[in-house]
Amino acid sequence: MDRNELKRAAAHAALDELVEGAIVGVGSGSTVESFIDALRARRERVAGAVSSSERSSERLRAAGIEVLDLNRVLAQGRDIPVYVDGADEIDGALRMIKGGGGALTREKIVAAACGRFVCIVDASKCVARLGRFPLPVEVIPMACELVAGRLRRLGGRPAVREGFVTDNGNLILDVAGLQIDDPAGLESELNQWPGVVTVGLFARSGADVVIIASPEGVERRAASGARA
Ligand code: 5RP
Repeated sequence: MDRNELKRAAAHAALDELVEGAIVGVGSGSTVESFIDALRARRERVAGAVSSSERSSERLRAAGIEVLDLNRVLAQGRDIPVYVDGADEIDGALRMIKGGGGALTREKIVAAACGRFVCIVDASKCVARLGRFPLPVEVIPMACELVAGRLRRLGGRPAVREGFVTDNGNLILDVAGLQIDDPAGLESELNQWPGVVTVGLFARSGADVVIIASPEGVERRAASGARA
């Protein structure tokens, strides 16, 4: 099985996590695109989607799934019980690095508005320790050098993602070489820096469930104490 087949297998298994007739939160990336494709055949099962990127929204609409405005959904008091998204890395405590596709800010917002976070990955994304994947950090353009300098002082090697602007009009710094001993602590610290919009660590609030596809099959794991 190649990696795309594994992504499709994980995406397909996530259909079993949906709540019948409810709105679903949808992340971004190629694994999520497979999820949207799988959802197309069962679109009557959802009351629409709240999306974390323009790209996912386009694909959802093409699949005949209505894309709803998050503010309106919340103002109406409607529930979004499940959020489905991929990850660049996930550890045993279901903490993640995300943002390889640059949609980290909206992903964090939509995930925070939803109930259970269901992460879908192929097994290559599972790590014992976060940090091999360069950590994406979304920054306000005028703060780019300020934030990059601070990241260097932490031991990181930040690089501006070339030719890329986020859906929010900002830049991404991809930070290699960081020693991530305390993912939640680092997330909290970077979140305080002026000019940082979002750090791609999802550790203070990680996934509730991970669906991992490997050549041996599809495995579902729930975080301890999660809404499994
Ligand atoms: C986008 C993300 C994606 O979930 C992450 O990059 C994984 O992508 P893919 O499914 O293409 O491997 O965080 O911002």
